[in-house]
Amino acid sequence: MKPSPALLALLPLVAAGGGSFGGGPPSHVATEIFSFPPTNPVFIENLLVLPDARLLLTSFVHFGPDTDSPLYVLNPATSSVSAVTTLPNSTSQTGIAKLSGANQYAVTAGILGDNFEFVNNTVNVYVVSLGWNASSATVVDTIPVPGVVSANGLVAVGNVVLSADSRGGRILRVDTVTRTSSVAFADPLLFGDPANVSGSLGITGVNGLFLKWHAGQRWVYFTNTARGTYGRFKVDSLGHKVGSVQVLRTVTSADPIGFTNSLDDLVVDEDGDGYIAWQDQTLLKVKRYGNGTTAQTVVLGPGGVASGNAGITLKTPTSVALGLGGGHIYVGTGGAEAGNLTGGQVVKVTI
Ligand SMILES: *[C@@H]1O[C@H](CO)[C@@H](O)[C@H](O)[C@H]1NC(C)=O
Ligand SMILES: *[C@@H]1O[C@H](CO)[C@@H](O)[C@H](O)[C@H]1NC(C)=O
Ligand SMILES: *[C@@H]1O[C@H](CO)[C@@H](O)[C@H](O)[C@H]1NC(C)=O
Ligand SMILES: *[C@@H]1O[C@H](CO)[C@@H](O)[C@H](O)[C@H]1NC(C)=O
Ligand SMILES: *[C@@H]1O[C@H](CO)[C@@H](O)[C@H](O)[C@H]1NC(C)=O
Ligand SMILES: *[C@@H]1O[C@H](CO)[C@@H](O)[C@H](O)[C@H]1NC(C)=O
Repeated sequence: MKPSPALLALLPLVAAGGGSFGGGPPSHVATEIFSFPPTNPVFIENLLVLPDARLLLTSFVHFGPDTDSPLYVLNPATSSVSAVTTLPNSTSQTGIAKLSGANQYAVTAGILGDNFEFVNNTVNVYVVSLGWNASSATVVDTIPVPGVVSANGLVAVGNVVLSADSRGGRILRVDTVTRTSSVAFADPLLFGDPANVSGSLGITGVNGLFLKWHAGQRWVYFTNTARGTYGRFKVDSLGHKVGSVQVLRTVTSADPIGFTNSLDDLVVDEDGDGYIAWQDQTLLKVKRYGNGTTAQTVVLGPGGVASGNAGITLKTPTSVALGLGGGHIYVGTGGAEAGNLTGGQVVKVTI
């Protein structure tokens, strides 16, 4: 089944409020470094900063008759974008993660069906090789992930990837060396809203994933879209969960958490603070104090504190990546405005 622009027309005509913010000085500067043109309105789903400082971009929706969705690379220094390869048998790409092998990246993609789900048994983990400053990439392996309709945020622990099954409320584990996939675990805290399993938001649970080391321990941070939560769980060197899933914050919002007011991908910086792409218009920061309490602020968006952002409206922020060397992050957007696709943006924000 091919997606059509009508799919995106499902997005209601609502501009989400920015939620509550805790004040503080305007210490962030935002700059739009790129946007796809309305004539090629790529919906950026995820982004990853390459060692050569370019950005690898996945796209959630590939229109057109073929099922070879293009994988893009953006050079932020020149604002130029190009397709480096295509992922055969896919119309929708989601998570990206850097594998431990040199130049090796994992991307999840499949055939998009109804209700923002993949068609069952079409999801693959594509292993892509992309060299330093290379203008083209090679798909070196395609590993099937059968029996799932959702594979969203992605992290790598060595050559194992963990994928967020938003619909199943579980974490999938794919070993890119043995080429095997399994359900790592399911948890109610990763599941969507049990009271609304029929709505497309209600069944979107765990969404973004981000791997962060703290004090020699690997933590996988996550967002849960339907619950509006941000949390984490610990994994060992093989990517197996250790201990229980923790919720660090339930995001507060003047508007109800909903389809256009939903948490997407995230990063965690050296201070342990989370930055979350919050559809429909916001980059959210969740500060975590030493005593374990959290505070949320809008970095960029309605009521946000960023400076230098005159004229920048985040249009359906979906993704965040830490810039090399710290000091800034990149925000990727779907570019959806009131249900119309106008071209995904990449916005650089100092942190
Ligand atoms: C695409 O999927 C078809 C059907 O499963 C398969 O025969 C074909 O080999 C796949 N193409 C590629 C390039 O993987
Ligand atoms: C990167 O590749 C481009 C051509 O694709 C070339 O013009 C440029 O000089 C290269 N940059 C570096 C740093 O190697
Ligand atoms: C996907 O297909 C598998 C069999 O290949 C089946 O067990 C599973 O229930 C299906 N999942 C959904 C959501 O339809
Ligand atoms: C269920 O989710 C849909 C969106 O997918 C939303 O429109 C509806 O308000 C939700 N219902 C409840 C009871 O939360
Ligand atoms: C936790 O620390 C923050 C920052 O120092 C402080 O504002 C807050 O009141 C503390 N909360 C508790 C419960 O101790
Ligand atoms: C969305 O696109 C439709 C059809 O092209 C157009 O009529 C409408 O004005 C657009 N809405 C916005 C908010 O741009």
